Amino acid sequence: MNVIVFASRKGGSGKSTLTAHLAAHAYKPSRSVLLVDADPQGSLTLWHKLRGTNEPPLVDGTDGVRAIVSSAKRQGYEWVFIDTPPTMSAVVTDAIHAATLIIIPARLTLFDLAAIKETMDLARQLRRPYAVVINGVPPRRDNTESPFVREARAALTSLNVPVWSGQITTRNNYSLALAEGEGAAEYEAGSEAANEIASLWTAIDKSVKAIHGHYAGVAMHRVAA
Ligand SMILES: Nc1ncnc2c1ncn2[C@@H]1O[C@H](COP(=O)(O)OP(=O)(O)OP(=O)(O)O)[C@@H](O)[C@H]1O
Ligand SMILES: [Mg+2]
Repeated sequence: MNVIVFASRKGGSGKSTLTAHLAAHAYKPSRSVLLVDADPQGSLTLWHKLRGTNEPPLVDGTDGVRAIVSSAKRQGYEWVFIDTPPTMSAVVTDAIHAATLIIIPARLTLFDLAAIKETMDLARQLRRPYAVVINGVPPRRDNTESPFVREARAALTSLNVPVWSGQITTRNNYSLALAEGEGAAEYEAGSEAANEIASLWTAIDKSVKAIHGHYAGVAMHRVAA
């Protein structure tokens, strides 16, 4: 079983957005996914209510995720996605402790970058693999990323921060889809947003395979740098 934890101490960085879109993308009858909303704000729960299908199912993890993860394992779930609050509270530590891989979404502002350091430090302390996902940035032109993204990526890389090579662009489709209880491809198949989510999922899947020793190529994460 793989536990993917979406964490960042910075509010509004994209944790719930990525959890919901990736859940909608990853779930299929042959691939079981359990969603855990560990954030009392309940953003993921709201999306799940709008969705109305219970596919994938969601449980409340605001009181702790340890027992939920153990029970998911007993029930034979393949994937557990945990959305966490923008804090350094016990439930976040609990989730990071249980993580196979931590996804740290970050907008490229000074405050976001300061906040990811705290989340990365916690991941390192608990020796869990993690990767930063750049979110909310200008689109690529002719497959070239904006100079702003390129510079920020270079700065992160020079600080030894593991960063996904793709990006999640600022797109209305991301929020419009969530307001319908949908994922990007359900909202608009073949859209740029759907492509970005699919490619992030591929990177996560590859990282998880590498973590389990089933893949020897390049993966985006790093354990305790
Ligand atoms: N790539 C994007 N394009 C457009 N809107 C986005 C994008 N990513 C996030 N948003 C919007 O930004 C807002 C904050 O995103 P989200 O709720 O996912 O962040 P969060 O990290 O879960 O916040 P919190 O820490 O408060 O839980 C939401 O309104 C969401 O729709
Ligand atoms: Mg959230």
